[in-house]
Amino acid sequence: MKEEILVNAEVLSHSYMPEKLLYRESELAQLKHNLQNFINTFITGPCGSGKTTLAKKALQCLNNSKKILACYIDCAVYQTTYSILKEIVPRSEFIFYRSNYELVKELMKQVKERKFVVCLDNFESMKDYSLITKFLSMGICIILISDAEENFSLLTENIRSNIPSIIRLTPYSSEQAFEILKDRVEKALAKWSCTDAILKRIADTVKGNIALAINALKVAALNAESKGKRAIEEADLPEIEDCPAKLSIDEKILLKILQEWKSLPARRLYDFYLQSARHPKSERSFRNYMESLCSKGLVKAIGEKRGRVYEIVEVEGNAVSKG
Ligand SMILES: Nc1ncnc2c1ncn2[C@@H]1O[C@H](COP(=O)(O)OP(=O)(O)OP(=O)(O)O)[C@@H](O)[C@H]1O
Ligand SMILES: [Mg+2]
Repeated sequence: MKEEILVNAEVLSHSYMPEKLLYRESELAQLKHNLQNFINTFITGPCGSGKTTLAKKALQCLNNSKKILACYIDCAVYQTTYSILKEIVPRSEFIFYRSNYELVKELMKQVKERKFVVCLDNFESMKDYSLITKFLSMGICIILISDAEENFSLLTENIRSNIPSIIRLTPYSSEQAFEILKDRVEKALAKWSCTDAILKRIADTVKGNIALAINALKVAALNAESKGKRAIEEADLPEIEDCPAKLSIDEKILLKILQEWKSLPARRLYDFYLQSARHPKSERSFRNYMESLCSKGLVKAIGEKRGRVYEIVEVEGNAVSKG
């Protein structure tokens, strides 16, 4: 029977913004304090430790205040200077800017009128770090995010010395992962469809990666539903690897594009990839990447050859690990 268990799938999706950020109260308070005082910040922590959610929550509060324009950019998707600037400069989607120079000039004009905060998630994927220097010299407050602290050393000394605050997120403990899952279950699943024992089992296996835990819960719910059950049983739990499928940078880019568009003809997907990737590869390699994503169960291929369409498998890009 369909939808007997997963009554609100959105709550278990990658883009869902939880009302409360559990166990990150002090980090959220620190980040909000930093933003209010225009202190540039670097956030780091392992995959699934809540970096993106933490930053988006803090930015949300700023945007509510209207005095500051806060932008979130995922540099795994927007890698080029041009695409990042287009995302930041207000209303630039309606105007054709010929060059980065024109966009920078427009941004300089706008920063005189209002304050800007720019969050660059997965910043290590940016093509040109000198854009960060430009932001700093324009007085834009920046938040950089990366899952590897050593990526901070990719930046010049000049940039590093302008980022005085580092927020380090540690992996969630099993108990914390359990409580976060429990909170989601109440909103996402039908009553009595999931026991605490199942949640504990998931929480104990994911080693603090809450994205992986939420993902596993969603897969288990779908498995149980497809067998016509009204409750999740142990047998419905997916095998949880140490870390989800390791993807190459190109595979990650392709997956991110598909997460945005849900489904795309192969040709268009390849065109988007050419625009996004720092070092785009040939069409033949593209086909190999897509084959690999399909074999990992992250993407579905529908149709053959020229008419082929790729579709994201909605167990979520949470499965994208870095590295
Ligand atoms: N403290 C929390 N309370 C509730 N939900 C959380 C919390 N932390 C993370 N989540 C949820 O876990 C998922 C993963 O979090 P998030 O994407 O922020 O992790 P991340 O550290 O950015 O991972 P990655 O390194 O893969 O980018 C999201 O769906 C988010 O809603
Ligand atoms: Mg993230």
